[in-house]
Amino acid sequence: MELLIKLLLLVLTALKTTQGSDSCNEVKHGHGHPYLHEASSFSQAEEEGFDYIIVGGGTSGCPLAATLSRNYSVLVLERGGSPYGNPNISHMQNFHIGLSDTSPSAPSQPFISTDGVINTRARVLGGGTCINAGFYTRASQRYVKTVGWDAKLVNESYPWVEQRIVHWPEVAPWQAALRDGLLEAGVAPFNGYTYNHLYGTKIGGIIFDKDGFRHTAADLLAAGNNDNLKVLLHATVERIIFERRGRRRRPTAVGVEFKDNSGKRHRALLNGGRQSEVILSAGAIGSPQLLQLSGVGPRKELKKLGIPVVIDNLHVGKGMADNPLNSIFMPTKKPVRQSLIQTVGITHPGVFIEASSGFSQSPNSIKCHHGIMSAEIGQLSTIPPGQRSLEAVQKYKREIKKNLPKEAFQGGFILEKISGPLSHGGLRLVNGDVHTPPVVTFNYFSHPEDLQRCVYGVRSIERVVQTKRFADLTVNDAYTMEALLNMSVQANVNLIPKHTNDTASVEQFCRDTVTTIWHYHGGCHIGKVVDGEYRVIGAARLRVVDGSTFNKSPGTNPQATVMMMGRYMGVKILRKRLGRAAGV
Ligand SMILES: Cc1cc2nc3c(=O)[nH]c(=O)nc-3n(C[C@H](O)[C@H](O)[C@H](O)COP(=O)(O)OP(=O)(O)OC[C@H]3O[C@@H](n4cnc5c(N)ncnc54)[C@H](O)[C@@H]3O)c2cc1C
Ligand SMILES: *[C@@H]1O[C@H](CO)[C@@H](O)[C@H](O)[C@H]1NC(C)=O
Ligand SMILES: *[C@@H]1O[C@H](CO)[C@@H](O)[C@H](O)[C@H]1NC(C)=O
Ligand SMILES: *[C@@H]1O[C@H](CO)[C@@H](O)[C@H](O)[C@H]1NC(C)=O
Ligand SMILES: *[C@@H]1O[C@H](CO)[C@@H](O)[C@H](O)[C@H]1NC(C)=O
Ligand SMILES: *[C@@H]1O[C@H](CO)[C@@H](O)[C@H](O)[C@H]1NC(C)=O
Repeated sequence: MELLIKLLLLVLTALKTTQGSDSCNEVKHGHGHPYLHEASSFSQAEEEGFDYIIVGGGTSGCPLAATLSRNYSVLVLERGGSPYGNPNISHMQNFHIGLSDTSPSAPSQPFISTDGVINTRARVLGGGTCINAGFYTRASQRYVKTVGWDAKLVNESYPWVEQRIVHWPEVAPWQAALRDGLLEAGVAPFNGYTYNHLYGTKIGGIIFDKDGFRHTAADLLAAGNNDNLKVLLHATVERIIFERRGRRRRPTAVGVEFKDNSGKRHRALLNGGRQSEVILSAGAIGSPQLLQLSGVGPRKELKKLGIPVVIDNLHVGKGMADNPLNSIFMPTKKPVRQSLIQTVGITHPGVFIEASSGFSQSPNSIKCHHGIMSAEIGQLSTIPPGQRSLEAVQKYKREIKKNLPKEAFQGGFILEKISGPLSHGGLRLVNGDVHTPPVVTFNYFSHPEDLQRCVYGVRSIERVVQTKRFADLTVNDAYTMEALLNMSVQANVNLIPKHTNDTASVEQFCRDTVTTIWHYHGGCHIGKVVDGEYRVIGAARLRVVDGSTFNKSPGTNPQATVMMMGRYMGVKILRKRLGRAAGV
């Protein structure tokens, strides 16, 4: 009977898909999305003006928009397209394929920080949740307290996200091995399946369902009120429009200017309501970039670029950080199944241990890859940061990969990411055009404590590698670091330090092999660029709600908290305006 129903559902789904629709912005998966429109279809003349204009339909922007649309009109402007119907986004197996697509319309936009580390920014409705590795895990209680959030509302906001898009993984073999290896190496206790941030080893949530189908922040828009919600795709916001109003003649946001795909410029305006607002959720690079383009930033830098200064603030785009990622490849006797992140070890010194495995077949196959550490997505950890380039990635794809021995793909990676970090950098505009990527610097390991923690992380990986659990999986019975080095040199996938008892050599390893786990944050810090309510200091009717406001990346991986924050701020704003009548 159950089988019959399943079959029937399959047939129905197939029918729905074949009926399809001629627009690629319509959804192929499940229900439609009536609020999605192309930016080119927009005409301010036909609009009344909006209660809220949200710039960036990403990880925080989507839950925020859905929540505010319950009671107010909301316009979301997203520079990318729709995630629906794109298999590069929707299928877990395509993680590395999607990320290696560098065409101008692709959902990820690569950049290289001045540190020489290849990185990427999301450019699609749903933001980072459409291209990320999908691991879902909350911030610690201490983090929530330090930021000053209302812990009860935080506890209500995470489940709002979880019920809609988060799943428990079927633990993949490589992730099970890491779980057991961590416990054997003393990263204990085992905390089971949990979203919570607890010392020891745990299995977290993922945004992929049992079929490996990705659910994203864009799906959260379906929780909004369709009558109040409008989302424009391929709408690149160029600047915030300010007027000087009120007794103190504070710069007041009244709308934004944006371009559609054909390059045509539009204006979207607030409706003039006293509490209407422009809210930036353009991400850790997009939000400080847009503030500066709009004249909110360091006077000297803006003047040099000919941008009229609206608010002089030295801190915009400063204090940005990216958590350094270092990893070790473990060759195994047998092929391991592909897995992104499911297991994490949370250590007291603030080092998080995770794992990823790719797919081994013939190195000539596009299917053959290294999961999160795939060189074709820019994780060129075999080349020191200064020498990495997008050309080097192409060369890897064309020449190097083909000549690697099969063993180089048979195995998995153990990764370590440090909490914080304490090393900071920032971004600088090159010109006044939103399409020119800002120059970004993270200064990895410039703070000695970050380097110490990396050394601790690499040594922790060594302990895991030497457990009985891993010895059984790997080619030699027990791996010494030297043996691993030998193996890896042959396979050309690692630059492993010769002796992990030699701190200087591990430090060098940390610097030489540093890559990113794409958790960069900061640029619009609380107390410096925004106040405790995320209002831009010195401006009216303008907020920033996204990862650019973080001092430190939350949890072991940030997306849970970024989405939570969108929901949380939406509820806060509704409650403030409507009191109990908000009903949330
Ligand atoms: C490859 C990768 C893997 C990751 N893996 C994980 C993981 O496994 N687990 C985890 O927790 N985190 C992971 N992360 C991190 C996490 O996804 C991000 O921290 C998070 O998505 C950032 O959210 P945000 O809202 O700050 O920005 P985003 O989600 O990037 O949203 C910003 C949005 O604004 C849009 N935008 C920017 N500028 C403009 C403009 N001028 N006009 C209009 N729109 C604009 C962008 O197109 C984007 O959609 C990963 C990230 C990446 C890239
Ligand atoms: C806000 O929206 C909710 C859900 O639609 C509704 O129940 C509530 O009455 C609304 N509140 C006001 C004040 O309009
Ligand atoms: C998926 O990515 C590949 C390259 O990595 C690209 O060639 C292809 O066009 C992408 N598909 C879609 C639907 O964007
Ligand atoms: C929030 O949830 C956490 C974890 O479940 C719990 O420990 C904490 O006491 C809760 N806080 C509040 C204020 O409810
Ligand atoms: C590593 O390789 C070197 C040189 O080929 C060899 O002398 C050494 O014994 C090897 N060490 C291990 C542990 O395999
Ligand atoms: C590190 O340990 C190895 C083997 O355990 C030893 O041969 C080597 O001399 C040690 N190196 C240092 C710098 O202590």
